[in-house]
Amino acid sequence: MLKMLNANWIAVEDYQFPGGWTNATSSTDKESRARALCRQLEAGKILFFPKLPYEFPSVEREFLLSREWNELRLHKNVSYRPGDDVMRGFSGDHGTETHLHDILRNYSANVVKFLRDFLRPYAGEWKLDFASFRPFEEEGRDLSLHKRNDLLHVDAFRLRPTRGGRILRVFTNLHATKPRVWYAIDDFGYVAEKYAADAGLSRFAAKNGALRRNVSRWAAGLGLARLSRTPYDRFMLRFHDYLKENEDFQANSPKLRLEFPPLATWMVFTDGVAHAAMSGQFAMEQTLLIPPQALVAPESAPYRILERIAARPLIS
Ligand SMILES: [Fe+2]
Repeated sequence: MLKMLNANWIAVEDYQFPGGWTNATSSTDKESRARALCRQLEAGKILFFPKLPYEFPSVEREFLLSREWNELRLHKNVSYRPGDDVMRGFSGDHGTETHLHDILRNYSANVVKFLRDFLRPYAGEWKLDFASFRPFEEEGRDLSLHKRNDLLHVDAFRLRPTRGGRILRVFTNLHATKPRVWYAIDDFGYVAEKYAADAGLSRFAAKNGALRRNVSRWAAGLGLARLSRTPYDRFMLRFHDYLKENEDFQANSPKLRLEFPPLATWMVFTDGVAHAAMSGQFAMEQTLLIPPQALVAPESAPYRILERIAARPLIS
């Protein structure tokens, strides 16, 4: 079932680059407008900008579009870690590597600068995660089932548990002429009610026992963050794979088709909005993790929805 409408994206008309907010002048006005948009985002809406809302010099965009990047095909994307200024996924000549690294560093810094103003309720609270450059055509990519981008899924990170925090992603379609096409389902409650039990939610919730909590505390004390996944993190990893494997969900869920035109930017909580990138080439993306205490609508968070269904706590 496919709904041909864009009801779940909100075109933001009162923010632009340069200049920022166009209607709000006082910081109180900006804060309340931003808070209303955070609430919409947390409820599953996609915020959409038809033009770049942050600085991205055309000379840098043109460089990214000027080649096919075939030397990167061993990797899914090129990733950039702002925290330690490290780029991964590139294997080519040193000059190109340095140039690409500079562009990703600037891109990440400019998106963060924009978000500090635009999503001000989260500023200072988020954990800045990776950025990525996605140069390959999504349609027909040869990836293993669980890595495929063109199957509907919710995001979960294997090595970076969020412990109930939310995954916010900002995308820009850099392609000069082609849209980036997504399918999306904005209602996490619907997906969870229909499929979480079959994906084994009660099994994950039941494991929220004293032993595991003690192991997590012990591991956290030793700085072994990898072991400190909550039952929520473990379930979401399983749910990501389960949804991609589920033919009924892929074929019959009421999804929306979204076309993001060239130079459009959009942001979405991809842990709640199931999504699939069906086609498109040359995209940029920056991820931020928003901790539970910074959410303006915590009742919309996937961990809260799953806790209601499981009738058990899933994060400690
Ligand atoms: Fe995803």
